[in-house]
Amino acid sequence: MTSSAVPPNRIAVIGGGGNVGAAAAFALIAKGVPAEVLIVDVVDKAAQGQALDISDASFLKPGTCRKASFQEAGQSDVIIVTAGARQQPGEPRSNLIERNYKIIKSIMDSMQPIKPSAKVLMVSNPVDVLTHIAQKASGLPVNQVIGSGTFLDSGRLRNTLSEITGVSPSSVHAYMLGEHGDNQFTGWSAARIGGRPLLDHPKMQGVDLDSINEKIMRKAYDIIDAKGSTYFGIGICAATLAEALLNNTSQVFPVVNFVEKYGCYMSWPAAIGASGVEQAFDVPVNAAEAKKLEVAVNAIKEACAKYD
Ligand SMILES: NC(=O)c1ccc[n+]([C@@H]2O[C@H](COP(=O)([O-])OP(=O)(O)OC[C@H]3O[C@@H](n4cnc5c(N)ncnc54)[C@H](O)[C@@H]3O)[C@@H](O)[C@H]2O)c1
Repeated sequence: MTSSAVPPNRIAVIGGGGNVGAAAAFALIAKGVPAEVLIVDVVDKAAQGQALDISDASFLKPGTCRKASFQEAGQSDVIIVTAGARQQPGEPRSNLIERNYKIIKSIMDSMQPIKPSAKVLMVSNPVDVLTHIAQKASGLPVNQVIGSGTFLDSGRLRNTLSEITGVSPSSVHAYMLGEHGDNQFTGWSAARIGGRPLLDHPKMQGVDLDSINEKIMRKAYDIIDAKGSTYFGIGICAATLAEALLNNTSQVFPVVNFVEKYGCYMSWPAAIGASGVEQAFDVPVNAAEAKKLEVAVNAIKEACAKYD
């Protein structure tokens, strides 16, 4: 919109008139991703306002931003979907399925025919189930439709563990797993710092692990109680994932992907790149974690079964 040279790659943000979509679009521009960012929303004026505002942030950056149609979004390289209802204070994400199912179906229909090489990145909640729904409705291969999953929750976990251990969050290798929802759990037994088990770290001795798990799971509720919605954290997460898909980085993130071993879309580490999911990983879990995993998988499967 403001730049004379339009970048060759396109990233669409559907629901970009809202808080999460606008935060993701702004993060793409601020990170310097060389892409044309397309803002699409059922409320045209909201899309126009966000696109104009975000384009003001692009003049020193390689990316550009403008409002666009669902048809243009369908021809993009990466399609981020943030459209739909969000949680009210105290409301679990799982409550949003019925409302957001219809929205996701109509968005996928409005974009047809979708570019065969496009990658869809779902962010709308409940993201594990909506990724399943989006894959079916889009007609794209399973590996090309992913969700932001527990990337944000894992970032919250890494920040917390960094505060305890004094090690940078980027050097704390730990994941929230299973579901981006109330059934998420910490993969304590697979967590590492400096190649050593995290739980062997001297500063982890005597730490109440259950209270950390609870704090991470509750953080979105706390933010929503205080300011109505969460968007900055997920904005940078969505932009980071879109960048990895576009630039074929093969970085490992805990995203919603179809995990053969458990037979469903779920939040689990995968390497992502130009073809979507490039590699899957079988994260080891101990007996207690396996029980939590089973609860998460069963909840996702039960919800998905209603929408097949
Ligand atoms: N995955 C995560 O980690 C995470 C984090 C935060 C929020 N979310 C989810 O992101 C979603 C959006 O949250 P928000 O705070 O931006 O809400 P919001 O109300 O600010 O924005 C939602 C936008 O979607 C648009 N929309 C609705 N129906 C549409 C359709 N059919 N086509 C195109 N656009 C449509 C609305 O007009 C609105 O602009 C929610 O489902 C929320 O739960 C996910």
